[in-house]
Amino acid sequence: MTDYHEPALCEKVLHYLNAAARKEGVIVDGTLGDGGHAELILRNAGPGCRVLGIDRDASALERARKRLAPFGGRVGFVHGNFSDIKGILRREGIVKISGLLLDLGVSSRQIDNPERGFSFMRQGPLDMRMNVDDKTTAAGLLETLSDTELEFVFKTFGEERFSRRIVRAIRKAQAKGPVTETLQLSQILVNAVSAPRHAKIHPATRSFQALRIAVNDELESLKTGLRDSLDVLEEGGRLVAISFHSLEDRIVKQFFRTEEKGCVCPPRLPVCVCGRKRTVRVLTPKPATPSRKEVQDNPRASSAKLRACERVYV
Ligand SMILES: C[S@@+](CC[C@H](N)C(=O)[O-])C[C@H]1O[C@@H](n2cnc3c(N)ncnc32)[C@H](O)[C@@H]1O
Repeated sequence: MTDYHEPALCEKVLHYLNAAARKEGVIVDGTLGDGGHAELILRNAGPGCRVLGIDRDASALERARKRLAPFGGRVGFVHGNFSDIKGILRREGIVKISGLLLDLGVSSRQIDNPERGFSFMRQGPLDMRMNVDDKTTAAGLLETLSDTELEFVFKTFGEERFSRRIVRAIRKAQAKGPVTETLQLSQILVNAVSAPRHAKIHPATRSFQALRIAVNDELESLKTGLRDSLDVLEEGGRLVAISFHSLEDRIVKQFFRTEEKGCVCPPRLPVCVCGRKRTVRVLTPKPATPSRKEVQDNPRASSAKLRACERVYV
């Protein structure tokens, strides 16, 4: 047991990145976190292969920097959003990459730190920013979004059935004073959402997930990062994405499907007029998931789904 975030699906990550066969080139870890996956990649790839680690969270980068120090110049660090992958690589003077890993969401270290406000179980400020330089916090969203916007957030990003009821409960609480603390919001949600007696998840789970996604604009970052990775992956370069909830997984799955198909003409047209060619070969017809043993050892991996594809130029 270490103090670090426990990385999920390690063997599959190495397999789908084809790490052991990489003798040179650059693999980008777009969600460096504590550097667990990056360390494995560096250990398994040839000494000519470098890793560029990106994270929005400066404190995660600091931890990873210490952990990966033994790899010296084989690893680089960038504080940024993987949605800016093209700009980041341009600034680093890198033209093409051999692989991109996206291990989405937040790390255990972020969730477990009450000061970051991600957990509905720990008292702290209702913050939820991955990058503390960003302006919008979760408490800020509760203050500034209209009822309709807030309801949209809970319904769309949390797939929450009781979104209207939740917004009403938050407004009622705000009439007495601002809602700025995690446990304060958690209690409002528990009171507002009638959880079935045998519910598997805490009544605040979906709403906290929704706010986190909104604060960090996670789904748009994912869409942009996936799209722009196509311009920087070399022929045979691999894209590996691990998602932890259905909204992310759906985006990855849909993106892979569209890019593998290439043509976007309506099915009623007898011949292709769009001229779009496929850009990837999907390597995981079904997502890879953790074994029972991995889930036992690392329960947070239980919802992980890994999808991978290879860049092709036709
Ligand atoms: C699940 S953790 C990654 C853990 C990492 N694979 C490891 O082995 O330690 C996700 C990390 O990605 C970062 N992150 C999430 N979305 C990001 C984005 N759009 N751009 C850059 N970093 C992001 C988070 O700050 C967090 O540190």
